[in-house]
Amino acid sequence: MKPTNPPGETAARKRVFSGIQPSGDVHLGNYLGAIKGWVDRQTEKDNFFCVVDLHAITTPQDPDALVRQTRSMSALLLAAGLDPSLSALFVQSHVTAHAEACWLLNCVTPVGWLERMTQYKDKAAKQESITTGLLDYPVLMAGDILLYDADEVPVGDDQRQHVELARDIAQRFNRLYGDTFVVPQAVIPQVGARVMGLDDPTAKMSKSESAARGHAVRMLDGPDEIQRSIMRAVTDSGNEIRFSDDPGKAGVDNLLGIYRVITGRGEAETEADFADARGYGDLKARVAEVVIDALTPIRRRYDELIRDTAELDRLLARGAERAEAVSGPKLDEMKRRVGLTLRRPAHTG
Ligand code: TYM
Repeated sequence: MKPTNPPGETAARKRVFSGIQPSGDVHLGNYLGAIKGWVDRQTEKDNFFCVVDLHAITTPQDPDALVRQTRSMSALLLAAGLDPSLSALFVQSHVTAHAEACWLLNCVTPVGWLERMTQYKDKAAKQESITTGLLDYPVLMAGDILLYDADEVPVGDDQRQHVELARDIAQRFNRLYGDTFVVPQAVIPQVGARVMGLDDPTAKMSKSESAARGHAVRMLDGPDEIQRSIMRAVTDSGNEIRFSDDPGKAGVDNLLGIYRVITGRGEAETEADFADARGYGDLKARVAEVVIDALTPIRRRYDELIRDTAELDRLLARGAERAEAVSGPKLDEMKRRVGLTLRRPAHTG
């Protein structure tokens, strides 16, 4: 059941669903484009957040590393401020409805819709043999979202197309079988939705590249490492510190964007903050300072949480129970709609 409304609010709280893969090193783009928004708005919403390990295995993973990374990502989300009393946090494979929903949705999704996905095309181009799982990835994601009747899906810009596809699949299922799903909306932050690589500000910061020196600030980097990465960031040969659409100034624009999301300052205020800066060295030093201030408390909390294995397991089990309470009945509804019989309890005697 959805929680009751806070005083003064008339409409029901919006249901929010989002997810993150436990593969690669989680970086500042993931934090500013997604996680920070989840944390900041969790009191206003009815939230489900998922560590999507089934998505992670659509590309090759080392099994032992995946186990560690799933725990690590869960601890990191809690350390970043997800509050288990406000948000259900769970691991995707712990709630079997996700894989089942994917199958049911597969059967209404034309292959052509999946072949058009830009992320699929990018990833497929880098691999010799492409698995069915990689092609099917956005249908699994649609299942994640639709099982919870999510109104809002807060994501970075690179997931926009996948959420659009989830809308198309929801609409198609509703048309074929009657009104079943809420048609979800992507919620993409105005700033921070596309944090660019520090080594190449024309390409987005990405988990698969984040181990490369100077590409990303990783959320668990220490102050010295953060400082080093930001001081080495690629800028331009000028000295103007302002927001700009000019591709030649993408590096400066990216640094200002990072500063702006972390401090919550507006565009004009941000530029004013740097009016007295002496060149890009100053800009980088100040951006590094706010990033270090934002990430240091998260890293410290993470160090504590990751040690308490029993507590982390307990929280994830509780999150999975809350997720099952919503997704279980929804999956049954999907099955009934398409004409599958539900298993009845076997009676003895
Ligand atoms: P993933 O794990 O790649 O990324 C997690 C979130 O971080 C955002 N993000 C960025 N934001 C700004 N700048 C960047 N450079 C940047 N890089 C990544 C992503 O947009 C995302 O919001 N398919 C999803 C996970 C998923 C999901 C879902 C999301 C599975 N099921 C259901 C929403 C709803 C993914 O791989 O995210």
